[in-house]
Amino acid sequence: MNQEPRVVWHEQTVTKQARAERNQHRGCVVWFTGLSGSGKSTVANLVEHMLFQRGVQSFLLDGDNVRHGLCAGPNLLEPVHGAEFAARFGLGFGAQDREENIRRVGAITQLFASAGLICLTAFVSPYRADRERVKRWVESNGQPGDFIEIFVNTPLETCIARDPKGLYQQAIEGKIKNFTGISDPYESPERPDLELAGGALPAEELAEQVIQLLVSRQILSR
Ligand code: ADX
Repeated sequence: MNQEPRVVWHEQTVTKQARAERNQHRGCVVWFTGLSGSGKSTVANLVEHMLFQRGVQSFLLDGDNVRHGLCAGPNLLEPVHGAEFAARFGLGFGAQDREENIRRVGAITQLFASAGLICLTAFVSPYRADRERVKRWVESNGQPGDFIEIFVNTPLETCIARDPKGLYQQAIEGKIKNFTGISDPYESPERPDLELAGGALPAEELAEQVIQLLVSRQILSR
């Protein structure tokens, strides 16, 4: 292993405050967590659309999309970079792979929040410790309250019944290993900033609850 060169943090001239003044809102991270099929992406997309209509600067990072690029799996990396590289940097769904997935995404959310965006994320992010590490990273580079955790609490049975990608069926049949909720754990947030009753209310109403939370936290004006 190479000795890591010493790297030094540089302060940048355009401050967070200046960006917030120009955008009329500060940057932050709105982190959706929940089972596959719980509705994270649907609600996050609706929230982003509402933010866009309000003229808010935002961006949504979605698990399935990010796993095509930044967090691609070995099968996507291998044809371009070769087998050794793919084995080293490609991410699957083992506990350590998910840890690295959330670490990479967490680092990006911190950059986006520093750039003044409301950064929305939709990742299963099943491990409490991984989510808490992102919260610490984001808030230590910003301020307390910059990381907002939203638990999309949809019953497993509802997610299985929805099964939009047919993955639960395959997991139940043992064709997919380490599938969250079936053969892998999901650690619910202990004190989420907001818990959404997924499956019980229409997605539009859940999205409105998120907007109201952002208003009550004074990230958005009324
Ligand atoms: S996370 O656990 O590392 O946060 P992420 O949100 O990026 O997961 O990806 C989850 C998506 O990958 C799911 O919505 C599902 O479509 C797909 N997927 C494929 N295999 C698995 C698996 N073993 N467990 C959970 N999701 C999986």
